[in-house]
Amino acid sequence: MENASLFFLLCLLQTLSSSASSKAFDTLIGTSLSIEKPSDKLVSANGEFSTGFYPVGDNAFCFAIWMTKPSVPTVVWIANRDDPVDGKGSKLSVLKDGKLHLTDSADSVVWKTKTEALTISEASNLQLRLMNTGNLVLYNFSSVAIWQSFDSSTDILLPQQLLTFGTSLVSNRGQGLYSSGYYKFFFDEDNVLHLLFQGPKLSSLYWPDPSLEDISNAGICIYNTSKAALLDDTGYFWSFDHFKFYATNFGTVNQRRLTLDTNGNLRLYSLQEMNGSWDWVVTWQAISDPCRIHGICGPNETIGQYSGIV
Ligand SMILES: *[C@@H]1O[C@H](CO)[C@@H](O)[C@H](O)[C@H]1NC(C)=O
Ligand SMILES: *[C@@H]1O[C@H](CO)[C@@H](O)[C@H](O)[C@H]1NC(C)=O
Ligand SMILES: *[C@@H]1O[C@H](CO)[C@@H](O)[C@H](O)[C@H]1NC(C)=O
Ligand SMILES: *[C@@H]1O[C@H](CO)[C@@H](O)[C@H](O)[C@H]1NC(C)=O
Repeated sequence: MENASLFFLLCLLQTLSSSASSKAFDTLIGTSLSIEKPSDKLVSANGEFSTGFYPVGDNAFCFAIWMTKPSVPTVVWIANRDDPVDGKGSKLSVLKDGKLHLTDSADSVVWKTKTEALTISEASNLQLRLMNTGNLVLYNFSSVAIWQSFDSSTDILLPQQLLTFGTSLVSNRGQGLYSSGYYKFFFDEDNVLHLLFQGPKLSSLYWPDPSLEDISNAGICIYNTSKAALLDDTGYFWSFDHFKFYATNFGTVNQRRLTLDTNGNLRLYSLQEMNGSWDWVVTWQAISDPCRIHGICGPNETIGQYSGIV
């Protein structure tokens, strides 16, 4: 008898845990994701990306998208990187005007989408879906995307995500620190992709090599005002300013990311399996001599003084 009830209990537990684990949805319809329920997250259909509240410190959370396969989860996008919320009562809601709102325990709005307000009928049956590419998309009832995370970025550009004037990359402050750091990868007013050091006191462009007198001699075109660039799944990056590169392992691999690292270098990584665990390897980088990155070398972490070293 005891054995029978134990067996029953085990069956029940198994049913409960399997239904809990299969409760991974990629779509949220009309409601909210709460910080207090760890199951309140979306998982892309291919299982590669998750979105929800991600811990960034003591009782500090960001609404983020991350990759679960690498041995250390990799955060690829954050809504509120400089404004984390606390672990009680915070939530992400789909509002009746068609906007996403991130609120903290005091119910104050920490972040919201800057889309146009919709009427109640336009905003009925909205769907928030995490795509296999890592793009979080808010669709209206006619399946038109009215907002997507790919239109903004944190420190990472994913394959198929267009880099535009609005999607510049800003490095993290440090290892494991997700707030905005000092480096920026962006289209400047000259229509060209640049790396910029923005320190507390000084700011300066450091890539492409600022000592180049005429940037067009390096094959860069300053006349195309489109300001857009794209990384594809094969590891080919191409920009309207004619800058391009290929990953050293060009071809289809598991996952790639272009990251503006905390030390100011722009690197392309790909995910590789090593001894049963998945880790990132560098397959391209903008700068091979770290001293050419401003703010890195020199006692005062100032800029310029080491830019002559190649
Ligand atoms: C969805 O958005 C598109 C573009 O704004 C609009 O034309 C369409 O009517 C919207 N659908 C609904 C159901 O509101
Ligand atoms: C920019 O380049 C693209 C692709 O080469 C081209 O289609 C577009 O017309 C160019 N735009 C301008 C303003 O030159
Ligand atoms: C994988 O394991 C082998 C044998 O245990 C070891 O020699 C090798 O260094 C490991 N490689 C990595 C990248 O850890
Ligand atoms: C670093 O800063 C200190 C204090 O501002 C200054 O005295 C020193 O000369 C600086 N060193 C260099 C190499 O610039």
